[in-house]
Amino acid sequence: MSDLEKLIEGLNHDLNEELNTIIRYIRHASVMKGLPGHEVRELLLEEVLDEVKHAQYLADKIVALGGTPKVQVQNPAELFDWREVLEDALKFEKEAIAGYRERAQQADAVGDVGLKATLEQFAEDETRHKEEIERLLG
Ligand SMILES: [Fe+2]
Ligand SMILES: [Fe+2]
Repeated sequence: MSDLEKLIEGLNHDLNEELNTIIRYIRHASVMKGLPGHEVRELLLEEVLDEVKHAQYLADKIVALGGTPKVQVQNPAELFDWREVLEDALKFEKEAIAGYRERAQQADAVGDVGLKATLEQFAEDETRHKEEIERLLG
């Protein structure tokens, strides 16, 4: 497999993780109750807008590079407790940061400096999400 093919495969992985996060955040936000639950809901619905932008960019970029977006999404966990929801979100945000760091290196390897810069920006967005989740977890 060429470096470009590996990059496209990685971008497809990232796309599906973003789609999973969109599904998770909308589902989790809908079942939050009480005052802390309300705060968690506000956070999830704000962050999901970033994830939509990430997903749309990744799908377009996969096609621009000659690939095909392959959608394979998962069912979110059946969580109802705000703290469990935040811990679940935190785990996936950490994975997203690590994933974008790796993908930025792969983009660099094929000489796509624009993609590398965008993926580094995505890693920064996910880092902000992670820090906001950590703040609410206390
Ligand atoms: Fe994202
Ligand atoms: Fe995120």
